[in-house]
Amino acid sequence: MARITASLYTSHIPAIGAAFDLGRTHEDYWKPVFAGYDFDKDWMKRQKPDVVVLVYNDHATAFSLAMIPTFAIMTGPEFAPADEGYGARPVPTVVGHPELAAHIASEVIQQDFDLTMVNEIDVDHGLTVPLSCVFGKVDAWPCKVIPFAVNVVVHPAPSGARCFALGQAIGRAIRSYPEDLNVQVWGTGGMSHQLQGPRAGLINREWDNAFLDRLIDDPAGLARMPNIDYVREAGSEGIELVMWLIARGAMADVAGGPKPKVAHRFYHVPASNTAVGHLILEEAV
Ligand code: DHB
Ligand code: FE
Repeated sequence: MARITASLYTSHIPAIGAAFDLGRTHEDYWKPVFAGYDFDKDWMKRQKPDVVVLVYNDHATAFSLAMIPTFAIMTGPEFAPADEGYGARPVPTVVGHPELAAHIASEVIQQDFDLTMVNEIDVDHGLTVPLSCVFGKVDAWPCKVIPFAVNVVVHPAPSGARCFALGQAIGRAIRSYPEDLNVQVWGTGGMSHQLQGPRAGLINREWDNAFLDRLIDDPAGLARMPNIDYVREAGSEGIELVMWLIARGAMADVAGGPKPKVAHRFYHVPASNTAVGHLILEEAV
């Protein structure tokens, strides 16, 4: 059967992708940001996931006011990096896992989470920046990736409770897949940031770190936090953090299993106008 071995959480700031693509990772400003992902390279060599279910949001790149799915699972075979206005990022095309994606869609929809199924889409920085941070510069991504998009761009975004319960359903679906696959679930976006209006540039270190603490130790309690608290405390784009609850909901302890191990935790301010957070939880074996 397929196993979930770890969950991984990270911001997905586009300026990090630009610094990476332009070879500026060793500049004084960027060095401490990329240092936060050094751990990942060796860790990934040991972990060798077959598939990553990567929860992210599209930033009005492929979706727009014309179409706004709350939850969308990408069931297609491959997904090209999107052109977000400066040309597509020079990173590999993402190879999907249509069979596992179709299984997750089937199981999760039958458990009353109504997903949109997407076979053709270009993926934006929300998905490609985490891959670059974690895997570095590669000719091909070393695993298959099932993109899973959440609307956190246009009100109303789904609640933390809904995301957490969806993560639990995704966890059950993955564990019921008959093939022996090593699967990770990633949550991306955040941490505190606000990109527009009088509060632009808002960073709330204390709140971000309390979020990380609670994500580790009290995810069910954290999931009850209303969306307005994210916006008040972490800025209008801080609401992206509800997506981390999907990855956390997929972990075994939520279903009564053993607690995961904190393999890596990182927090840094600033990158662009945003706080960078990164966490890796390993499933107990
Ligand atoms: C920015 C955009 C994002 O999608 C994000 O998650 C953080 C920062 C930005 O434009 O700076
Ligand atoms: Fe974002």
